[in-house]
Amino acid sequence: MSLYNFPDLLQVAKERKFKAVGSFNLHCLEMLPAYFKAAKATNSPLMIQISTGTAEYLGYRLLVDSIRSLSESQQIPTCLHLDHCSDIESIKTAIDAGFSSVMYDGSHLDMADNIANTRKVIDIARPRNISVEAELGAIGGSEDGKAVAMEDICFTTTEDAKRFVDETGVDMLAVSVGTVHGLYTGKAKIQHQRLADISEVTKTPLVLHGGTGVSDEDMRRAVAGGIDKVNVGTEMNVQWVGHCKETFEKGKVNDSVRKFLIPANDAVAAVLIEKIALFK
Ligand code: 13P
Repeated sequence: MSLYNFPDLLQVAKERKFKAVGSFNLHCLEMLPAYFKAAKATNSPLMIQISTGTAEYLGYRLLVDSIRSLSESQQIPTCLHLDHCSDIESIKTAIDAGFSSVMYDGSHLDMADNIANTRKVIDIARPRNISVEAELGAIGGSEDGKAVAMEDICFTTTEDAKRFVDETGVDMLAVSVGTVHGLYTGKAKIQHQRLADISEVTKTPLVLHGGTGVSDEDMRRAVAGGIDKVNVGTEMNVQWVGHCKETFEKGKVNDSVRKFLIPANDAVAAVLIEKIALFK
């Protein structure tokens, strides 16, 4: 089974009665079994996204080979997506390695440059059947070492979204509608009307970044109201590190390292299963 691009994976998700696909950041290779376990337990297709930091740490090919192999052996339709990337050379590296979806993040640029660069990426990706996500507006918080201060958050407007989609034909669009990357200090305030308006005019799959800390109620409303891809990253990291801290603390140096990692992975799988249930 080869890796799926996003539109094909979304179709499988819809056939299985999911409203949206969760796209889950993988923070290290040791976590990988938890993602497949959660997909199996929920009969869900799987989307794993990788930051450029993680891809450079582990190697693009290692990620492609291991994720494709698990997808085949477990018969789970899987999309491997490069998360936030502003560097077209790194996007080419991911595509050459075999990623099936990429995100070009030009949200820091003005509209014309964001459109021009997104089109360049689409020209590279589309002939190879690889989906492209772009971002419009600025989502607050911190992601892979890059931070957007709360005062610099810029919500996506309906007019900009329509122009962007019309001029790029992008496969999915990340919008800034009230979530932030990382752990919330307060409750996320999703602007559901803004989301509905953008969905109505773009008729393009929309992406909700900053899935960590969004209430169950908000998540359900968002996936019913135009969101087709939900990014969740920090929450799995928090679970994994939290459990490792506890088990490593109690362990002995000659214990099998698996004794520490398996409870952490079980906690990650439980979070993933909970999240996936919200997308039905
Ligand atoms: P969180 O880390 O806030 O869940 O956001 C993840 C994300 O949006 C990755 O692009």
